[in-house]
Amino acid sequence: MIRSLPSSAGIDSAIDYLQDRLGLLIPPDRRAEIEKRIQRTIAIRGMADPDWLLHALHTDEAMFEALVNEITVGETYFFRDPASFELIQKTILPDLDRGRPAGAPIHIWSAGCATGEEAYSLAILLEEEGWAERAHILATDISRDALHKARAAVYGPWALRGDGSGQLADRYFMKDAGRFRLADRFRSRVSFRYLNLASEFRPSPKDGLTRMDLILCRNVLIYLDAATTQAVARRLFDCLADGGWLLTGPSDPPLWPYAPYKTVITAAGVLYRRIDQADLQPMAETKILPKVLDHARPAAPPRAAFRPDAPQLADIPSPSGPTGRRKPGANNQNIDLALIRALADQGKISAAQQAAEEVIRRVPLSVEPRYLLATLALADGRTEEAITSLRQLLYINPSLAAAHMMLGMALLGKGDLMAARRAFENTFALSAERPEQEIVPLTDGETAGDLARAAKRQFDQLLSSLEEAI
Ligand SMILES: C[S@@+](CC[C@H](N)C(=O)[O-])C[C@H]1O[C@@H](n2cnc3c(N)ncnc32)[C@H](O)[C@@H]1O
Repeated sequence: MIRSLPSSAGIDSAIDYLQDRLGLLIPPDRRAEIEKRIQRTIAIRGMADPDWLLHALHTDEAMFEALVNEITVGETYFFRDPASFELIQKTILPDLDRGRPAGAPIHIWSAGCATGEEAYSLAILLEEEGWAERAHILATDISRDALHKARAAVYGPWALRGDGSGQLADRYFMKDAGRFRLADRFRSRVSFRYLNLASEFRPSPKDGLTRMDLILCRNVLIYLDAATTQAVARRLFDCLADGGWLLTGPSDPPLWPYAPYKTVITAAGVLYRRIDQADLQPMAETKILPKVLDHARPAAPPRAAFRPDAPQLADIPSPSGPTGRRKPGANNQNIDLALIRALADQGKISAAQQAAEEVIRRVPLSVEPRYLLATLALADGRTEEAITSLRQLLYINPSLAAAHMMLGMALLGKGDLMAARRAFENTFALSAERPEQEIVPLTDGETAGDLARAAKRQFDQLLSSLEEAI
Protein backbone atom coordinates (compact mmCIF):
# COMPACT_ATOMS: atom_id res chain seq x y z
CA MET A 1 0.00 0.00 0.00
CA ILE A 2 1.22 3.53 -0.77
CA ARG A 3 1.58 5.52 2.44
CA SER A 4 1.09 9.27 2.84
CA LEU A 5 3.47 11.54 0.96
CA PRO A 6 6.33 13.42 2.64
CA SER A 7 5.88 17.10 3.32
CA SER A 8 7.19 19.53 0.76
CA ALA A 9 9.92 20.62 3.22
CA GLY A 10 11.32 17.09 2.97
CA ILE A 11 11.14 17.21 -0.79
CA ASP A 12 12.73 20.67 -0.83
CA SER A 13 15.74 19.57 1.19
CA ALA A 14 16.08 16.45 -0.99
CA ILE A 15 16.03 18.59 -4.13
CA ASP A 16 18.61 20.95 -2.62
CA TYR A 17 20.83 17.98 -1.82
CA LEU A 18 20.45 16.50 -5.32
CA GLN A 19 21.09 19.85 -6.96
CA ASP A 20 24.21 20.24 -4.91
CA ARG A 21 25.55 16.74 -5.51
CA LEU A 22 24.81 16.77 -9.25
CA GLY A 23 25.60 20.45 -9.83
CA LEU A 24 22.16 20.79 -11.36
CA LEU A 25 20.20 23.91 -11.97
CA ILE A 26 16.48 23.35 -11.73
CA PRO A 27 14.64 26.20 -13.41
CA PRO A 28 11.47 27.36 -11.66
CA ASP A 29 9.26 25.98 -14.44
CA ARG A 30 10.60 22.41 -13.88
CA ARG A 31 10.34 22.46 -10.11
CA ALA A 32 6.70 21.38 -9.76
CA GLU A 33 7.17 18.50 -12.20
CA ILE A 34 10.29 17.30 -10.36
CA GLU A 35 8.56 17.49 -6.98
CA LYS A 36 5.76 15.34 -8.37
CA ARG A 37 8.21 12.80 -9.78
CA ILE A 38 10.06 12.56 -6.47
CA GLN A 39 6.83 12.22 -4.54
CA ARG A 40 5.76 9.41 -6.83
CA THR A 41 9.09 7.58 -6.52
CA ILE A 42 9.27 7.72 -2.75
CA ALA A 43 5.60 6.88 -2.37
CA ILE A 44 6.16 3.74 -4.42
CA ARG A 45 9.06 2.91 -2.11
CA GLY A 46 6.79 3.37 0.91
CA MET A 47 8.67 6.22 2.52
CA ALA A 48 6.52 8.64 4.49
CA ASP A 49 8.76 10.59 6.83
CA PRO A 50 10.43 13.50 5.06
CA ASP A 51 13.51 13.23 7.26
CA TRP A 52 14.03 9.71 6.00
CA LEU A 53 14.33 10.96 2.47
CA LEU A 54 17.34 13.15 3.10
CA HIS A 55 18.87 10.45 5.27
CA ALA A 56 18.18 7.84 2.56
CA LEU A 57 19.84 10.00 -0.04
CA HIS A 58 22.97 10.04 2.11
CA THR A 59 22.98 6.36 2.87
CA ASP A 60 20.91 4.45 0.34
CA GLU A 61 22.54 4.47 -3.08
CA ALA A 62 19.46 2.84 -4.67
CA MET A 63 17.25 5.72 -3.51
CA PHE A 64 19.82 8.22 -4.77
CA GLU A 65 19.89 6.46 -8.16
CA ALA A 66 16.11 6.40 -8.37
CA LEU A 67 15.89 10.14 -7.78
CA VAL A 68 18.76 10.89 -10.18
CA ASN A 69 16.68 9.20 -12.85
CA GLU A 70 13.72 11.38 -11.97
CA ILE A 71 15.60 14.63 -11.85
CA THR A 72 17.86 14.36 -14.92
CA VAL A 73 16.80 14.77 -18.53
CA GLY A 74 18.03 11.88 -20.68
CA GLU A 75 16.64 13.09 -24.00
CA THR A 76 18.88 11.90 -26.86
CA TYR A 77 18.82 10.03 -30.16
CA PHE A 78 21.14 8.69 -32.84
CA PHE A 79 22.96 11.39 -34.82
CA ARG A 80 21.24 14.17 -32.91
CA ASP A 81 22.24 17.53 -34.42
CA PRO A 82 23.62 16.07 -37.68
CA ALA A 83 25.64 19.26 -38.24
CA SER A 84 27.79 18.33 -35.22
CA PHE A 85 28.61 14.96 -36.75
CA GLU A 86 29.39 16.67 -40.04
CA LEU A 87 31.83 18.90 -38.16
CA ILE A 88 33.46 15.84 -36.65
CA GLN A 89 33.64 14.07 -40.00
CA LYS A 90 34.83 16.97 -42.12
CA THR A 91 36.84 19.13 -39.76
CA ILE A 92 37.87 17.33 -36.61
CA LEU A 93 38.85 13.86 -37.88
CA PRO A 94 40.96 15.21 -40.77
CA ASP A 95 42.64 17.55 -38.29
CA LEU A 96 43.37 14.74 -35.85
CA ASP A 97 44.78 12.67 -38.68
CA ARG A 98 47.26 15.35 -39.67
CA GLY A 99 50.71 15.03 -38.25
CA ARG A 100 50.13 11.64 -36.62
CA PRO A 101 51.67 8.32 -37.46
CA ALA A 102 49.31 6.27 -39.63
CA GLY A 103 46.84 4.35 -37.52
CA ALA A 104 47.71 6.14 -34.26
CA PRO A 105 44.90 5.74 -31.72
CA ILE A 106 42.47 8.53 -30.95
CA HIS A 107 40.64 8.95 -27.68
CA ILE A 108 37.07 10.20 -27.62
CA TRP A 109 34.80 10.88 -24.66
CA SER A 110 31.05 11.32 -24.70
CA ALA A 111 30.47 13.13 -21.38
CA GLY A 112 26.81 12.94 -20.34
CA CYS A 113 26.06 10.12 -22.79
CA ALA A 114 22.57 9.26 -21.46
CA THR A 115 21.45 5.95 -23.03
CA GLY A 116 24.41 5.78 -25.41
CA GLU A 117 23.04 7.00 -28.72
CA GLU A 118 25.68 9.75 -29.03
CA ALA A 119 28.61 7.41 -28.32
CA TYR A 120 27.29 4.75 -30.70
CA SER A 121 26.66 7.36 -33.40
CA LEU A 122 30.35 8.23 -33.06
CA ALA A 123 31.29 4.55 -33.31
CA ILE A 124 29.22 4.24 -36.50
CA LEU A 125 30.70 7.40 -37.99
CA LEU A 126 34.22 6.23 -37.17
CA GLU A 127 33.61 2.88 -38.83
CA GLU A 128 32.26 4.63 -41.92
CA GLU A 129 35.38 6.80 -41.98
CA GLY A 130 37.68 3.79 -41.60
CA TRP A 131 38.74 4.71 -38.06
CA ALA A 132 37.07 1.84 -36.21
CA GLU A 133 40.27 0.14 -35.14
CA ARG A 134 41.95 3.34 -34.00
CA ALA A 135 39.22 4.86 -31.89
CA HIS A 136 38.77 4.36 -28.16
CA ILE A 137 35.41 5.70 -27.07
CA LEU A 138 34.60 6.34 -23.44
CA ALA A 139 31.04 7.31 -22.52
CA THR A 140 30.05 8.50 -19.05
CA ASP A 141 26.90 9.57 -17.27
CA ILE A 142 25.54 10.05 -13.80
CA SER A 143 22.47 7.91 -14.37
CA ARG A 144 23.26 4.23 -13.79
CA ASP A 145 19.91 3.35 -15.25
CA ALA A 146 20.83 5.16 -18.49
CA LEU A 147 24.24 3.44 -18.52
CA HIS A 148 22.59 0.05 -18.10
CA LYS A 149 20.38 0.75 -21.13
CA ALA A 150 23.38 2.06 -23.05
CA ARG A 151 25.29 -1.17 -22.50
CA ALA A 152 22.31 -3.23 -23.63
CA ALA A 153 22.12 -1.14 -26.84
CA VAL A 154 18.54 -2.08 -27.65
CA TYR A 155 16.42 0.85 -28.73
CA GLY A 156 12.90 1.76 -29.70
CA PRO A 157 12.14 3.45 -33.02
CA TRP A 158 12.12 6.88 -31.33
CA ALA A 159 15.87 6.63 -30.75
CA LEU A 160 16.27 6.38 -34.52
CA ARG A 161 14.02 9.29 -35.34
CA GLY A 162 16.87 11.14 -37.03
CA ASP A 163 17.25 8.23 -39.47
CA GLY A 164 14.71 9.43 -42.01
CA SER A 165 15.87 7.10 -44.78
CA GLY A 166 16.00 4.00 -42.57
CA GLN A 167 19.57 3.32 -43.72
CA LEU A 168 20.95 3.38 -40.21
CA ALA A 169 18.44 0.81 -39.04
CA ASP A 170 19.07 -1.43 -42.05
CA ARG A 171 22.84 -1.33 -41.84
CA TYR A 172 23.65 -1.42 -38.18
CA PHE A 173 20.68 -2.83 -36.24
CA MET A 174 18.87 -6.12 -35.95
CA LYS A 175 15.14 -5.65 -35.71
CA ASP A 176 13.37 -7.75 -33.14
CA ALA A 177 9.76 -7.32 -32.00
CA GLY A 178 9.70 -3.64 -32.86
CA ARG A 179 13.02 -2.97 -31.09
CA PHE A 180 16.40 -2.29 -32.68
CA ARG A 181 19.48 -4.08 -31.40
CA LEU A 182 22.76 -2.47 -32.35
CA ALA A 183 25.33 -4.77 -33.97
CA ASP A 184 27.64 -6.26 -31.33
CA ARG A 185 30.83 -4.88 -32.82
CA PHE A 186 29.74 -1.32 -31.88
CA ARG A 187 28.88 -2.32 -28.34
CA SER A 188 32.39 -3.61 -27.84
CA ARG A 189 33.89 -0.35 -29.11
CA VAL A 190 32.38 1.87 -26.42
CA SER A 191 33.23 1.68 -22.70
CA PHE A 192 30.47 3.02 -20.50
CA ARG A 193 31.29 4.29 -17.08
CA TYR A 194 29.66 6.20 -14.22
CA LEU A 195 31.00 9.72 -13.75
CA ASN A 196 29.49 12.70 -12.01
CA LEU A 197 30.70 15.76 -13.87
CA ALA A 198 30.07 17.79 -10.72
CA SER A 199 32.65 15.70 -8.84
CA GLU A 200 36.28 16.73 -8.74
CA PHE A 201 37.37 14.42 -11.54
CA ARG A 202 40.90 14.95 -12.74
CA PRO A 203 42.75 13.92 -15.86
CA SER A 204 44.35 10.64 -14.90
CA PRO A 205 45.66 7.72 -16.94
CA LYS A 206 44.18 5.37 -14.32
CA ASP A 207 40.64 6.61 -15.05
CA GLY A 208 41.32 6.99 -18.76
CA LEU A 209 40.30 10.64 -18.58
CA THR A 210 43.49 12.03 -19.95
CA ARG A 211 44.78 13.20 -23.33
CA MET A 212 41.39 13.17 -24.99
CA ASP A 213 41.44 14.07 -28.69
CA LEU A 214 37.74 14.83 -28.78
CA ILE A 215 35.20 15.38 -26.04
CA LEU A 216 31.50 15.68 -26.74
CA CYS A 217 29.64 17.32 -23.90
CA ARG A 218 26.43 18.23 -25.63
CA ASN A 219 23.14 19.18 -24.03
CA VAL A 220 24.47 18.51 -20.54
CA LEU A 221 25.82 21.87 -19.42
CA ILE A 222 22.43 23.51 -19.95
CA TYR A 223 21.26 21.52 -16.93
CA LEU A 224 24.20 22.47 -14.69
CA ASP A 225 24.46 25.49 -12.41
CA ALA A 226 26.91 28.29 -13.14
CA ALA A 227 29.57 27.22 -10.61
CA THR A 228 29.55 23.61 -11.86
CA THR A 229 29.65 24.75 -15.48
CA GLN A 230 32.74 26.83 -14.75
CA ALA A 231 34.47 23.97 -12.96
CA VAL A 232 33.54 21.48 -15.70
CA ALA A 233 34.83 23.87 -18.38
CA ARG A 234 38.25 23.83 -16.72
CA ARG A 235 38.32 20.10 -15.99
CA LEU A 236 37.34 19.18 -19.54
CA PHE A 237 40.12 21.48 -20.76
CA ASP A 238 42.57 19.67 -18.48
CA CYS A 239 41.44 16.30 -19.88
CA LEU A 240 42.11 17.33 -23.49
CA ALA A 241 45.30 16.48 -25.35
CA ASP A 242 47.20 19.35 -26.91
CA GLY A 243 45.25 20.10 -30.09
CA GLY A 244 42.19 18.24 -28.75
CA TRP A 245 38.65 19.38 -29.44
CA LEU A 246 35.57 19.89 -27.29
CA LEU A 247 32.13 20.04 -28.85
CA THR A 248 29.13 21.39 -26.95
CA GLY A 249 25.53 21.78 -28.09
CA PRO A 250 23.91 24.84 -29.69
CA SER A 251 22.02 25.68 -26.48
CA ASP A 252 24.86 25.02 -24.03
CA PRO A 253 26.34 27.96 -22.13
CA PRO A 254 29.65 29.45 -23.32
CA LEU A 255 32.81 27.98 -21.80
CA TRP A 256 35.42 30.37 -23.15
CA PRO A 257 35.31 32.65 -20.11
CA TYR A 258 36.36 29.78 -17.84
CA ALA A 259 39.33 28.09 -19.53
CA PRO A 260 41.91 29.10 -22.14
CA TYR A 261 40.15 27.46 -25.09
CA LYS A 262 40.46 28.61 -28.68
CA THR A 263 36.82 29.16 -29.46
CA VAL A 264 35.09 28.52 -32.76
CA ILE A 265 31.46 29.50 -33.13
CA THR A 266 29.54 27.53 -35.73
CA ALA A 267 25.91 27.11 -36.61
CA ALA A 268 26.18 23.58 -35.21
CA GLY A 269 27.30 24.76 -31.81
CA VAL A 270 30.50 25.97 -30.28
CA LEU A 271 33.78 24.18 -30.80
CA TYR A 272 36.62 24.60 -28.35
CA ARG A 273 40.18 23.60 -28.80
CA ARG A 274 43.14 23.23 -26.47
CA ILE A 275 46.33 24.52 -28.01
CA ASP A 276 49.43 24.45 -25.83
CA GLN A 277 52.32 24.39 -28.27
CA ALA A 278 53.15 27.64 -29.99
CA ASP A 279 53.73 25.75 -33.24
CA LEU A 280 50.32 24.09 -33.13
CA GLN A 281 48.22 26.88 -34.55
CA PRO A 282 44.47 26.67 -34.95
CA MET A 283 44.00 25.11 -38.37
CA ALA A 284 42.65 27.20 -41.21
CA GLU A 285 39.21 25.70 -40.92
CA THR A 286 38.90 26.38 -37.23
CA LYS A 287 37.52 29.84 -37.60
CA ILE A 288 34.02 29.16 -38.72
CA LEU A 289 31.39 31.79 -39.01
CA PRO A 290 27.67 31.39 -38.80
CA LYS A 291 26.23 31.16 -42.26
CA VAL A 292 24.69 34.57 -42.53
CA LEU A 293 21.37 35.05 -44.25
CA ASP A 294 21.80 32.03 -46.50
CA HIS A 295 18.06 31.45 -46.45
CA ALA A 296 17.46 34.98 -47.73
CA ARG A 297 19.86 34.83 -50.65
CA PRO A 298 18.39 33.29 -53.76
CA ALA A 299 21.57 33.43 -55.81
CA ALA A 300 24.21 33.31 -53.14
CA PRO A 301 27.80 32.76 -54.15
CA PRO A 302 29.45 29.52 -52.99
CA ARG A 303 29.48 29.53 -49.25
CA ALA A 304 32.67 29.42 -47.29
CA ALA A 305 32.22 26.94 -44.53
CA PHE A 306 34.28 24.36 -42.75
CA ARG A 307 33.98 22.01 -45.71
CA PRO A 308 37.28 20.95 -47.24
CA ASP A 309 35.81 22.13 -50.55
CA ALA A 310 35.15 25.62 -49.22
CA PRO A 311 35.96 28.21 -51.90
CA GLN A 312 39.52 29.36 -51.98
CA LEU A 313 40.23 33.05 -52.00
CA ALA A 314 41.05 32.98 -55.70
CA ASP A 315 37.44 31.94 -56.42
CA ILE A 316 36.04 35.13 -55.02
CA PRO A 317 36.58 38.67 -56.27
CA SER A 318 38.34 41.05 -53.92
CA PRO A 319 36.14 43.52 -52.01
CA SER A 320 37.08 46.40 -54.25
CA GLY A 321 36.92 44.40 -57.51
CA PRO A 322 39.40 44.40 -60.36
CA THR A 323 39.07 48.13 -60.97
CA GLY A 324 39.29 48.94 -57.32
CA ARG A 325 35.87 50.65 -57.43
CA ARG A 326 32.41 49.28 -57.29
CA LYS A 327 28.92 50.51 -56.68
CA PRO A 328 27.31 49.28 -53.49
CA GLY A 329 24.54 46.78 -54.20
CA ALA A 330 22.93 43.62 -52.87
CA ASN A 331 24.94 41.27 -55.10
CA ASN A 332 28.20 43.00 -54.29
CA GLN A 333 27.42 42.74 -50.64
CA ASN A 334 26.71 39.03 -50.91
CA ILE A 335 30.08 38.57 -52.57
CA ASP A 336 31.70 40.62 -49.82
CA LEU A 337 30.09 38.51 -47.13
CA ALA A 338 31.24 35.31 -48.84
CA LEU A 339 34.73 36.76 -49.01
CA ILE A 340 34.73 37.65 -45.33
CA ARG A 341 33.62 34.13 -44.43
CA ALA A 342 36.19 32.56 -46.74
CA LEU A 343 38.96 34.62 -45.18
CA ALA A 344 37.82 33.68 -41.71
CA ASP A 345 37.52 30.01 -42.66
CA GLN A 346 41.11 30.10 -43.81
CA GLY A 347 42.22 31.49 -40.47
CA LYS A 348 42.94 34.96 -41.90
CA ILE A 349 41.13 36.73 -39.14
CA SER A 350 42.63 40.18 -39.45
CA ALA A 351 42.06 40.12 -43.25
CA ALA A 352 38.45 39.05 -42.65
CA GLN A 353 38.10 41.84 -40.16
CA GLN A 354 39.52 44.38 -42.57
CA ALA A 355 37.18 43.19 -45.32
CA ALA A 356 34.19 43.53 -42.98
CA GLU A 357 35.32 47.02 -41.94
CA GLU A 358 35.73 47.96 -45.59
CA VAL A 359 32.13 46.93 -46.32
CA ILE A 360 30.95 48.93 -43.33
CA ARG A 361 32.86 51.99 -44.57
CA ARG A 362 31.13 51.66 -47.95
CA VAL A 363 27.68 50.80 -46.62
CA PRO A 364 27.60 52.18 -43.09
CA LEU A 365 24.13 50.87 -42.29
CA SER A 366 24.76 47.28 -43.35
CA VAL A 367 24.18 44.85 -40.53
CA GLU A 368 25.67 41.52 -41.68
CA PRO A 369 29.31 42.65 -41.71
CA ARG A 370 28.88 44.05 -38.21
CA TYR A 371 27.46 40.71 -37.12
CA LEU A 372 30.42 38.94 -38.71
CA LEU A 373 32.81 41.36 -37.01
CA ALA A 374 31.21 40.57 -33.68
CA THR A 375 31.44 36.82 -34.35
CA LEU A 376 35.12 37.14 -35.23
CA ALA A 377 35.84 39.17 -32.14
CA LEU A 378 33.96 36.78 -29.88
CA ALA A 379 35.66 33.71 -31.32
CA ASP A 380 38.96 35.45 -30.77
CA GLY A 381 38.24 36.27 -27.13
CA ARG A 382 37.85 40.04 -27.81
CA THR A 383 34.60 40.25 -25.91
CA GLU A 384 34.53 44.05 -25.53
CA GLU A 385 34.93 44.54 -29.28
CA ALA A 386 32.17 42.05 -29.96
CA ILE A 387 29.89 43.91 -27.57
CA THR A 388 30.65 47.24 -29.29
CA SER A 389 29.91 45.81 -32.76
CA LEU A 390 26.68 44.25 -31.58
CA ARG A 391 25.53 47.43 -29.87
CA GLN A 392 26.23 49.43 -33.04
CA LEU A 393 24.34 46.85 -35.05
CA LEU A 394 21.37 46.96 -32.69
CA TYR A 395 21.38 50.74 -32.84
CA ILE A 396 20.91 50.41 -36.61
CA ASN A 397 18.30 47.69 -36.30
CA PRO A 398 17.04 46.94 -32.78
CA SER A 399 14.77 44.12 -33.93
CA LEU A 400 17.53 41.57 -34.74
CA ALA A 401 16.91 38.78 -32.25
CA ALA A 402 20.10 36.87 -33.21
CA ALA A 403 22.22 39.93 -32.40
CA HIS A 404 20.52 40.32 -29.00
CA MET A 405 21.27 36.66 -28.31
CA MET A 406 24.92 37.00 -29.23
CA LEU A 407 25.14 40.18 -27.17
CA GLY A 408 23.72 38.25 -24.21
CA MET A 409 26.38 35.56 -24.59
CA ALA A 410 29.14 38.16 -24.86
CA LEU A 411 27.89 40.02 -21.78
CA LEU A 412 27.67 36.73 -19.94
CA GLY A 413 31.29 36.04 -20.88
CA LYS A 414 32.23 39.45 -19.52
CA GLY A 415 30.36 38.77 -16.29
CA ASP A 416 27.80 41.56 -16.76
CA LEU A 417 24.89 39.42 -15.68
CA MET A 418 22.22 42.13 -15.46
CA ALA A 419 22.91 43.39 -18.97
CA ALA A 420 23.08 39.79 -20.27
CA ARG A 421 19.70 39.16 -18.70
CA ARG A 422 18.21 42.13 -20.54
CA ALA A 423 19.69 40.91 -23.81
CA PHE A 424 18.15 37.45 -23.35
CA GLU A 425 14.83 39.07 -22.42
CA ASN A 426 14.96 41.08 -25.66
CA THR A 427 15.86 37.97 -27.65
CA PHE A 428 12.95 36.11 -26.16
CA ALA A 429 10.47 38.95 -26.68
CA LEU A 430 11.50 39.40 -30.32
CA SER A 431 11.55 35.73 -31.25
CA ALA A 432 8.50 34.62 -29.25
CA GLU A 433 6.34 37.07 -31.18
CA ARG A 434 7.33 35.52 -34.53
CA PRO A 435 5.78 32.34 -35.97
CA GLU A 436 7.45 29.30 -34.36
CA GLN A 437 8.94 27.98 -37.63
CA GLU A 438 10.04 31.33 -39.07
CA ILE A 439 13.75 31.47 -39.82
CA VAL A 440 15.58 34.09 -37.79
CA PRO A 441 17.60 36.62 -39.85
CA LEU A 442 21.40 36.41 -39.41
CA THR A 443 21.26 32.74 -38.43
CA ASP A 444 21.84 29.54 -40.31
CA GLY A 445 18.23 28.52 -40.48
CA GLU A 446 17.53 28.71 -36.75
CA THR A 447 13.79 29.04 -36.14
CA ALA A 448 12.14 31.69 -33.99
CA GLY A 449 10.87 28.91 -31.70
CA ASP A 450 14.38 27.50 -31.18
CA LEU A 451 15.83 30.91 -30.46
CA ALA A 452 13.02 31.79 -28.04
CA ARG A 453 13.65 28.56 -26.12
CA ALA A 454 17.42 29.06 -26.06
CA ALA A 455 16.99 32.64 -24.81
CA LYS A 456 14.54 31.55 -22.15
CA ARG A 457 16.93 28.87 -20.92
CA GLN A 458 19.74 31.39 -20.64
CA PHE A 459 17.40 33.84 -18.92
CA ASP A 460 16.17 31.28 -16.38
CA GLN A 461 19.70 30.13 -15.67
CA LEU A 462 20.82 33.69 -15.11
CA LEU A 463 17.86 34.45 -12.92
CA SER A 464 18.74 31.52 -10.66
CA SER A 465 22.40 32.60 -10.50
CA LEU A 466 21.34 36.14 -9.63
CA GLU A 467 18.95 34.87 -6.95
CA GLU A 468 21.70 32.68 -5.51
CA ALA A 469 24.04 35.67 -5.44
CA ILE A 470 21.54 37.83 -3.50
C1 LIG B 1 19.98 15.52 -22.49
S1 LIG B 1 21.10 14.24 -22.13
C2 LIG B 1 22.33 14.51 -23.34
C3 LIG B 1 22.70 13.26 -24.05
C4 LIG B 1 23.64 13.46 -25.23
N1 LIG B 1 24.87 14.09 -24.82
C5 LIG B 1 22.99 14.24 -26.31
O1 LIG B 1 23.33 15.39 -26.54
O2 LIG B 1 22.09 13.70 -26.97
C6 LIG B 1 21.84 14.87 -20.63
C7 LIG B 1 22.57 13.80 -19.84
O3 LIG B 1 23.42 14.45 -18.89
C8 LIG B 1 23.47 13.65 -17.73
N2 LIG B 1 23.92 14.44 -16.59
C9 LIG B 1 23.26 15.43 -15.94
N3 LIG B 1 23.99 15.87 -14.92
C10 LIG B 1 25.14 15.17 -14.92
C11 LIG B 1 26.31 15.17 -14.10
N4 LIG B 1 26.42 15.99 -13.04
N5 LIG B 1 27.30 14.32 -14.42
C12 LIG B 1 27.20 13.48 -15.47
N6 LIG B 1 26.12 13.42 -16.26
C13 LIG B 1 25.11 14.26 -16.00
C14 LIG B 1 22.04 13.15 -17.58
O4 LIG B 1 21.97 12.00 -16.78
C15 LIG B 1 21.64 12.90 -19.04
O5 LIG B 1 21.84 11.57 -19.38
